Formats: sequence, structure tokens, C-alpha cells
Amino acid sequence: MAAFSTGPPQQRTGAAVDGGLTCTACHRTFAPANSDPRGTLTMKVAPWRPGVTQSITITINHPDQKRWGYQLSSRLASNVSKQAGTFTPTPDNRVRCLAGPDAPCIGGDVEFVSHRSAPVTAVGAGYTFSVDWTPPTTAVGDIVFYLAGNAADGGGTNANDRIYNASMVVPPAVCNIPGIPTITSAVSSASFTGSLAPNSLLSIFGTGFQSTGVTRQVMAEDLAAKLVPQALSCVAVEVNRVRAPILYASATQINAVVPTGTAAGAADVRVILNPTGIIPFSSSPVTVQAAATAPTLFTLDGSKVIAQISGTSTLVADSTAVKGARAAKPGDSITLYASGLGDTAAHLDAASLATAASATVNPVTVMLGGKALPPASVTYAGVTPGMTAGLYQKINVTLPAGIPAGDTSLKLMVNGAASQEGVTILTVAQ
Ligand code: HEC
Repeated sequence: MAAFSTGPPQQRTGAAVDGGLTCTACHRTFAPANSDPRGTLTMKVAPWRPGVTQSITITINHPDQKRWGYQLSSRLASNVSKQAGTFTPTPDNRVRCLAGPDAPCIGGDVEFVSHRSAPVTAVGAGYTFSVDWTPPTTAVGDIVFYLAGNAADGGGTNANDRIYNASMVVPPAVCNIPGIPTITSAVSSASFTGSLAPNSLLSIFGTGFQSTGVTRQVMAEDLAAKLVPQALSCVAVEVNRVRAPILYASATQINAVVPTGTAAGAADVRVILNPTGIIPFSSSPVTVQAAATAPTLFTLDGSKVIAQISGTSTLVADSTAVKGARAAKPGDSITLYASGLGDTAAHLDAASLATAASATVNPVTVMLGGKALPPASVTYAGVTPGMTAGLYQKINVTLPAGIPAGDTSLKLMVNGAASQEGVTILTVAQ
């Protein structure tokens, strides 16, 4: 039987890509991880330089416990299934490959570094592990670390141990994406046309926004402070010289949130490469039109609206095209997703995550088949809790009797501004 105190099995750092398990898979007494706030688990990793080894420290503590263990894994933030750098095995630190054997891991297999012989201390003394990590030698952008720790009772079993879990994104020390960013267009992410309201989603298309092959999506680790970052993977966006929170960056596309204070009228959009680097490089600006409200509906394909039967995962669509979907009928409450509905009662900043529902300041009118639905049928229009202020504004509508059937035109009106033309929803009269 394996002696786990000499190194736990792989894939127990809590990384979702590995299945999300931590040590609580076996050390269950006080599960889930982080359930006892008296304990702490922290890691220190400095911004990384290509090929330059650094010592990472991992500190675990708990006032009642006296034996300590950990497991750490390092991945490319742009693809968390891929290993980033290598850990150095020592008498204290064991490095195991996903495939099974100890390091060196072949063919870029992912690595799990852990304690080799779980140290015992005085009760409550805690322990700091140090492990050497050598980053990749090329500019791969941000690197994410997944960590689990065990503050154990020293009983030599998997009972009565307290498990902690943490993760963090570590940026490169020096951003150096090569080349010149060029914007070809900047448009609403929902409609790909039209004007843009503060806190709405903006998509920028062009070239040279990331190193070739790097695609970076904002991840839970970036949102620890409940704010969307102002730079992601060495790229930033400015609207009228104000930084815009960024959600996604690839070589040819960036998704960002229009800053809250953006005034109505012409606005300049710029992409800045290496914003914290030695040589920041700005694209030429492109001009977009900003407006206080500029509603846009999210669609599947440019015309068919994204709609759900509220409170379910059932999509409103043709079931022959989308499995499990159905048409919307009178009496249904449906949820639509939109951007650009303007300010909400809570006045959220573009970078913030909505923690509670908050309705739009201006009422939202839903036009179905060219006719406005009664105001009372719109039961909610506002931010979606848990989402960024701009990412998802949702609208709940109860469909009244007498609606037309078929691919029925759908439009939003807010404060005199209309959503894009040509959007439809599949409806039946009964
Ligand atoms: C597959 C089940 C399993 C998983 C997963 C597991 N352990 Fe264990 N662990 C055990 C067992 C069984 C023991 C007791 C036997 C031993 O000491 O080897 C143990 C013992 C330990 C001990 C000594 C406990 C004490 O009180 O003396 C430490 C420390 C430890 N594990 C750390 C970890 C860490 C850290 C993780 C997660 C990264 C982890 N283990 C994941 C099964 C597991």
C-alpha cells in the first residue's frame, strides 16, 4: 500500500482541468477544503523571467495541527492543461508526472510537486516548504499555480486533517510581446455593429494582440479581488485614454468592457501591448460612437436570439437545430441576454462583479413582432449576479397571450435607443 505521507497521488491541487479534486478526496474529516478559517495556506511566487529559476515558498499553518503536506502544479494560463516550467526534485520535494513516474517528465507531461516526507513540528508551528521552479524559456504569458495543503494532526492516518486550497496567476516580470498591434474594427460584442454604452461589452478585431498561439481568457484567479483586470496577458485597452477591463485576448481579438465614465459621442479605442513592460506599444486609435444606452441582444448566429426558459437550461430555439430546445409560448417566462442597457440602480463600475441583482435605471421595452409588450411583462432587466457589470445584463420577460408564431422579430428599446435589426425568437401561439 502506498505511503501517502511520502507524497500524495497526482491531480489533487483542486485545478478544475484536473477534475477539481483536492486532498479531501481521502482526508475527509473536515471537508470541504478551506472549511476551517483558523488555518492558512499561502504561496509566494515572483513575476517570472524566462528560464530563470526561482524559489517558491508555500506556507501552511493551523493552531491545532502539527504535520504538514502540500501539492503544487504550474500551468499556462492560456491553456491550463499544459505544463509551465519544471520543478526540481530534492530530498524534501517529490516531483511526479501525470503519467505516473517521478520527474523528469517526458514530452511536457504535467508535473505535481509535493512533500516527500511530511514534516512534523510542535503543535501550531506551521511549516514553510521551498521548491525551486524553472519557468519556460519563451514568452508564454501568464502562468497559473494550483495548490493544496494538508494541516495534519500527525496521527499517521488520513483522519482529522485539515485541507486548504489556493490558486494564483503569476505574470511575466517583463512583458515583451513582439510586433505592432493593429485594430481593424471595434464593435459591440453582442451585435458586432452599432454604438457602445458604458459597461457594455466591446470586441476589438485586428492583429498582433498576443504572441502567436496565445489565447487568454479571464479566469477565476484573476477575479480574486472581484475586479476584472485592467491588463491581461501583457495587453491593455484604452477608451478615451482610460483603461478598459479585459476579459479575453488572442492574437486577433480582444473582448473588453467599455469604461463606466465614457461620455456620449466619438470615442478613441487603442490597444496597448506590454503596458507594464519596458517598451509599451500603442496601436493607432479607431473611433467608435459611445451613447448612454446602446442596447444589443446576444444571438446564436447574428439573427436567432439567445433565450432560455427562465430558471432552466432549456434554450428557446428549433429543436431540430438545438437538441432539447423548444419554441416559447404564451405564459412562458424567458431570459434574454443583452449588453448596453445603460446604468443600473447600483451604479456598478465596469470592472466590478455584480454581487446582487440590480435593475437598469431606464425601463427596458421588449418589442415582439413589432409590438411593444406590456411593461409589466418585463419582470427584470439588470445585471446578472456573479457576472461582470457589463458581461451579462439579463432580461426576464413573461410572454402574454396573442403573440405571433414562427421566427418572430425581437427588439429592445431603452431610453429611445433600439437594439440591432434582424433578431428573431422562435414562438408558438399556444
Ligand atoms: C488517495 C487518498 C489520499 C489522497 C488523495 C491524499 N492522501 Fe494524504 N494520506 C492518505 C493516507 C491513507 C494517509 C495515511 C497513511 C500515510 O501516512 O501514508 C495519508 C497521510 C497524509 C499525511 C500525514 C497525516 C498525519 O496526520 O500523519 C499528510 C501530511 C498527507 N497525507 C498529505 C496529503 C496532501 C497534501 C494531499 C493532497 C495534495 C493528500 N495527502 C492527498 C491518503 C490520501
